[in-house]
Amino acid sequence: MSNLKDLINKIYNEDFLEFSKNIPDECIDLIVTSPPYNIGKEYEKKQPLLSYLNWSREILAECKRVLKDTGSIFYQVGTYVGKKGAHFPWDIMLFPIFVDLGFIPRNRIVWIRQHGTHAKYKFSNRHETVLWFTKSNSYKFYLDDIRVPQIFPKKKNYRKGRDYGKFTSNPRGKNPGDVWAFRNVKHNHEEQTEHPCQFPEDFVTRIILSTTETNDIVLDPFIGSGTTGIVARNHNRRFIGCEIVKQYVNIANHRLIGIPDGNGNFPNLKALRQYVDETGEDITRFTFSRQIGKKATPLPRAKIYPQSHHLQKTIERIMFEAENSCYKTEQK
Ligand SMILES: C[S@@+](CC[C@H](N)C(=O)[O-])C[C@H]1O[C@@H](n2cnc3c(N)ncnc32)[C@H](O)[C@@H]1O
Repeated sequence: MSNLKDLINKIYNEDFLEFSKNIPDECIDLIVTSPPYNIGKEYEKKQPLLSYLNWSREILAECKRVLKDTGSIFYQVGTYVGKKGAHFPWDIMLFPIFVDLGFIPRNRIVWIRQHGTHAKYKFSNRHETVLWFTKSNSYKFYLDDIRVPQIFPKKKNYRKGRDYGKFTSNPRGKNPGDVWAFRNVKHNHEEQTEHPCQFPEDFVTRIILSTTETNDIVLDPFIGSGTTGIVARNHNRRFIGCEIVKQYVNIANHRLIGIPDGNGNFPNLKALRQYVDETGEDITRFTFSRQIGKKATPLPRAKIYPQSHHLQKTIERIMFEAENSCYKTEQK
């Protein structure tokens, strides 16, 4: 067991079940992570379903041990694809394990995406899920820190009665709900590094701001390109990260340091832009890992839209499809 102070604000290149032995009991405020989904990505060896579930139980038992009594865990998962395309949603299979370990369920968040793979023999996947569990009933939740704007924030009640003249909705904003629409980090996203499946920073920001206070400790057992560490640090939280692939640990540390490597390269466009903004250096001197052909330029940036925009676009798309479905077209 290590001294907690020595573990803080670092990323460890280890298997989490080995590394976790260093973390003292009940010292972590929040765990936010996305484990390997056992689908044969470049960083994982596909294992039989049952052995993956047993491994997950070991991971989650360790998470429970290190969480404080007031702590939360957000576990973001997709689906396992079995033989002949059989579709097994991880959240459904993992839920009983969480409950059996004594975690208390708070939300099952659906993360919808406009884009994804195009299936031929079933409906294309357009969502993944996030399971939020707490260790006890005395958990932290700061709704006011993550409210989203109301559509009519200034609308007042005009009917005579007790509420006459009062705002019809909370002017501080609305609870974001359990359907989230953050854009996933694929091509054209300025946060994209060489890692194949990163969290978007604004997704992690919502989780960290809603469930932790300044200086709290956030653990990501599968930190990949370091997103959880970046967001924790940017919001004055402390973090501990673990990642088994050395190349990803290097990317994560490079993102955290925020300066060019010896060849003038950055791990992503966002880090490059931040550096140029802070130093005033000429952007055309630098490169970033995912750029295809062209160099970064001082031209106006691609607009970064808030999640409300992505949600709106997704709803518009769903309405469009409902209004233009083939059976309705045939009826005309
Ligand atoms: C879904 S990705 C997480 C990506 C991360 N959320 C980000 O923003 O980049 C899962 C990560 O877990 C790592 N991993 C797989 N098995 C591991 C293990 N036993 N211990 C620690 N990390 C592991 C993989 O290399 C991969 O980077």
